[in-house]
Amino acid sequence: PVPVIIDCDPGHDDVFALWLAAGNPAIDLLGVTTVGGNGRLEHTTNNARVALTVAGVDGVPVAAGADKPLRRELTPATWIHGDNALGGPVLPAPTVPLDGRSALELIADLLEGAAEPVTLIPTGPLTNIAMLLEQRPDFREKITEIIWMGGSTGRGNVGAYAEFNAWADPEAADLVVKAGLPFTMVGLNISHQALITEEVIRSIGAIGNETSAFGVELLRFFCAAYDAAEGMPEGPLHDPITVAIAIDRSVATVQRSHLDVETKGEFTSGATAVDLHDMLGKEPNADIAITLDVPKFWLLIREAVANLK
Ligand code: BDR
Ligand code: CA
Repeated sequence: PVPVIIDCDPGHDDVFALWLAAGNPAIDLLGVTTVGGNGRLEHTTNNARVALTVAGVDGVPVAAGADKPLRRELTPATWIHGDNALGGPVLPAPTVPLDGRSALELIADLLEGAAEPVTLIPTGPLTNIAMLLEQRPDFREKITEIIWMGGSTGRGNVGAYAEFNAWADPEAADLVVKAGLPFTMVGLNISHQALITEEVIRSIGAIGNETSAFGVELLRFFCAAYDAAEGMPEGPLHDPITVAIAIDRSVATVQRSHLDVETKGEFTSGATAVDLHDMLGKEPNADIAITLDVPKFWLLIREAVANLK
C-alpha cells in the first residue's frame, strides 16, 4: 500500500477523504494532521477525530497544526460547513485521542520512521506543509509527492478566480508549489465533476453501516449549504479526489503545466494561474487534474465506506 499522511481541515468532504484512505487497502494511512481552514483549529481537529471514531479507525495518530495562515487571518468557511465545520449530524465525543505532538512533529516522526517515501495529501490550506518544507528541507527526499485539493483552472468559489484553500493561505500555497516536489493540483475544475446527486446519496445510504448513516447526514447538510450559497443542490465532494488519485491514477486525467499562485492581485488574490496552453513557455511544475472518471470515483467511495464500521 501507498504510505500516506493526510493534512486536513474537516470539513464534510475532508471526512470522506479520511474515510477513503482508511477504508481502501491500497492506502496505508500513517497519520492525520489538522489545520485551521473550514473551521477554527479546535473544530477541525475535533472533527478529524470524530471522523475516525465514527468509522472505527484506531491507531492512526491525529495531531493539530497551524491555527491560522502564515501571514493572514483565518476566515472559516462557515457558509458551507456550519459553525463547527461539520454541520448536520450530532457529533459523538471522539474516542480517537489527540496526539501530544504538533502536526509538524508528527509528520517529522512519520517521515523519519517510514521505510519508504510518503505521499502527502493536503485537503485544506497549505500552511502546515509550507512550514514543514521551510523548516525541514532535508525531508524532501522522504516525500514521494504532494496531491493537494485546491486551486482551479477557471472559476473560484470565494472570489471570481480564487478557490478557498488557495485563497485562505496563498503565501503557503506559493511556497509549496515553488518547493518543486512532484505536485498534483486537484482544483475546482475537476472537483465540480464529483457532484453529490440523489443517486449518490441513496447508494451510500444503502451501504447500511454507521459510517454510511453519518455520511448521509453530512452530505445532506453539505448539499443544502451549497444550494443556499451557490445554487448547487448537488454539491461537489472535492477532497477525496486526491486520495482516489493516490489509489488509482486512472481515476483522473492530468495535464502537466506551469502553475503560479497569485498572492498580491487586487481582484485575484489566491487565484491559481494555470498555464494550460503554455503561453509563458515556463517549465511545467505541476500535474493539473482535469477529467474525473465519475463512476469509478463513487465506486471507490462506496467500497471504502463499506469497509468501515
Ligand atoms: C475546499 O474548501 C473546503 O471548503 C473544502 O473542504 C475543500 O477542501 C473546496 O474549495
Ligand atoms: Ca478541505
